[in-house]
Amino acid sequence: MSTSTSLPGGQAPAASVDKERRNAIIVTCAVGGVGVAAVAAPFLASFAPSERAKAAGAPVEVDLSSIPLGEKLVVEWRGLPVWILRRTPEMLQSVKKADPEVADPKSLRTQYPTPEYARNEFRSIKPEFLIAVGVCTHLGCSPSGPYAGGSNAQLGADPGFICPCHGSTFDLAGRVFKNKPAPDNLPVPPHKYVSDTVVVIGDDSKA
Ligand code: FES
Repeated sequence: MSTSTSLPGGQAPAASVDKERRNAIIVTCAVGGVGVAAVAAPFLASFAPSERAKAAGAPVEVDLSSIPLGEKLVVEWRGLPVWILRRTPEMLQSVKKADPEVADPKSLRTQYPTPEYARNEFRSIKPEFLIAVGVCTHLGCSPSGPYAGGSNAQLGADPGFICPCHGSTFDLAGRVFKNKPAPDNLPVPPHKYVSDTVVVIGDDSKA
């Protein structure tokens, strides 16, 4: 049965691609300046459900195979920005390293419950792909990032995401760091893989 994810802060910001490039890990590659947007557009164009279906919260199918390593794709589901971050081995290492620094390393908090299938070391079905709702659990702002370790004073040596509103910071598994205003990790939306590279966001029912 599908589970639903409510929006932190009770608002519904439009999906967006982070504009903040400075110090971000996101690599714009050879096409400079359009990295994530260029990746996102074809997916949204290819898989966007009808307006009527979207209003009803239809699941969104996304092919992950073209997301470059280390980059974040943003897709919209139920009016929420859903992040898909393709993590490098170094990024996964940083998640392990952050265990003692995050407030809820095992995602046991229940304000925005992590689905059972993502309640693991990397908060994901496939370690390579973080799939999380990019909305801060404090008051609903959208964090920016990912930032490289050492590139931002708020994160210090850790790579991760920063919420611009009140300074909550999150690691590359969407786990909030200790002593920050956000009460919970970034929500993981219901999702399931229908092939090696295609994921459905908004539906985790078993066939
Ligand atoms: S909304 Fe993110 S820290 Fe307040």
